[in-house]
Amino acid sequence: MKELEDRIRKDGRVLPGNILLVDSFLNQGLDARLMNQMALTWQEFYKDEPVTKIMTIEASGIALAVLTAYRFGVPALFAKKYATINLTDDRHQASVYSYTREKSYSIAVSRRLLTPDDHVLLVDDFLANGCAMAGLADLVREAGASVAGIGVAIEKSFQKGPDLLRERGLTICSLARIESLEEGRIVFGEADA
Ligand code: G4P
Repeated sequence: MKELEDRIRKDGRVLPGNILLVDSFLNQGLDARLMNQMALTWQEFYKDEPVTKIMTIEASGIALAVLTAYRFGVPALFAKKYATINLTDDRHQASVYSYTREKSYSIAVSRRLLTPDDHVLLVDDFLANGCAMAGLADLVREAGASVAGIGVAIEKSFQKGPDLLRERGLTICSLARIESLEEGRIVFGEADA
């Protein structure tokens, strides 16, 4: 998505450790107009899927999920993160490994809010190692629901996430694909939309 790539070129900053800082428009400061364009692009990409819900994991995917849900005319839903969790009857849950924190955490959502008739589009700001999206897909399947696909704002194609998710048969629509952040230079690949 050209508008997103242009904005990354203009305002993105590369930090040590191959981290792209986009806090002025996607992570902390939120550019609603740009994010609305992103939601429209996912809506067009997934127009043949009978999507019933848009899901993400707290926190930074929530704004994108809300705008996308508005475009599709369906509810948004976010999974909550817990350091540890005991199995309870009223929640679907899955485990997510965080490479940055080097430990697992649980994600959960109320059983009332995610049911077997749901066909869910997952969205997130970054796809890096992919564990968050893989865990969310597990949670959807645990609920007996199905995954329509994944919408990612910024894919870091040099990390493990894209392959991990495709190996699981999940469709990804990445709006900006970054092939490298070496030496502070942002190298884009071809995006999906
Ligand atoms: P992944 O499974 O989500 O791909 O995550 P990974 O463990 O690789 O990354 C940990 C966190 O760091 C994730 O946020 C991810 O979105 C974020 N992240 C990864 N690469 C970048 C980057 O280049 N720039 C920025 N700004 N963030 C990056 P999270 O901890 O799940 O949380 P939250 O911010 O949504 O609460």
